[in-house]
Amino acid sequence: MGVVSSKTSLAKARLPEAAAGYHRAWYPVCLSRDLPAGKIVGRDLLGSRLVAYRDAAGKPVVQTAWCPHLGADLSLGQLVDGHLRCPYHHWSFDTEGRCARIPTGDRIPSAARIFTYPTEEAWGLVWAFNGEQADTAVPRLPGADEGTIAFETDDRGERPWDTWIAISNGVDFQHLRTLHGIPEVSLPEHLEVNAGGIEFRIEGPYHLQHGRISGTNVFAQHLRMGGRDMFMLFAGTPIAPGRSTGFRVIGVPKDKAEGLADVRAIADRLGEEDAPVLKSIRFRRGLLTASDRHLARYFKYVEEFPCFAAPEG
Ligand code: FES
Ligand SMILES: [Fe+2]
Repeated sequence: MGVVSSKTSLAKARLPEAAAGYHRAWYPVCLSRDLPAGKIVGRDLLGSRLVAYRDAAGKPVVQTAWCPHLGADLSLGQLVDGHLRCPYHHWSFDTEGRCARIPTGDRIPSAARIFTYPTEEAWGLVWAFNGEQADTAVPRLPGADEGTIAFETDDRGERPWDTWIAISNGVDFQHLRTLHGIPEVSLPEHLEVNAGGIEFRIEGPYHLQHGRISGTNVFAQHLRMGGRDMFMLFAGTPIAPGRSTGFRVIGVPKDKAEGLADVRAIADRLGEEDAPVLKSIRFRRGLLTASDRHLARYFKYVEEFPCFAAPEG
């Protein structure tokens, strides 16, 4: 057996993350309905603390929450004249993160900025891109847009696992049979790996599954079973290594809105069956066999995924 450096074994055990920040991808920050105009939301995400509010036009703004003066938590501040004002000495920041005012009249240091994340609002979620500029589109549900389906979005709370491990479920086709007891599962021919995502399609006479992983934290799918269309999107945002917060969107075609309760029951069941395994797993990329080839491709994709760490100010 060859010599394995501790760096290599660590990378194999956990795959990359913490040191270089988190993957450059879109992450839900909060539910749209939890961010009404005039409210400031603070959340511990992406190894830091983020602050979210709406600008004068109602567009969400997501920024790092630590004030560059002495580090106070800006989510405890106030919105004054469209600026985020620190609770401590009232330095104010604009929607691009520049310090716009220091009440003493002192010269504003050029480094007095907070990092501002690119944001989007979709599927009832406020999303932030972990990077200076978004290089992919906000995650989508295959085969659906917000105008054509009836959907509901929920905050699933904190979970004791890494998002990329939970998302591996989306291409772990054998666990659908073994853990979830869905007998009619088949494997896709191949996974299509494209910018910031992985997509696959399994189509049979009675069954369709069109799945898409975005980043390493979102799995969305369109399922057609027994002639019924269902849509599900599972998303997570890392808090710190081994901890994340979860969000879920479920939907049905608008003219079949009464079917939403069934989709909710299926998504609940899948989540309840996965949770004990994900909570207790000591993840390793272990002895993968031929049937794990799509999982192996996913792990390679995760390892190669670029990371970004926002400056803390
Ligand atoms: S710590 Fe924010 S203004 Fe002083
Ligand atoms: Fe699962």
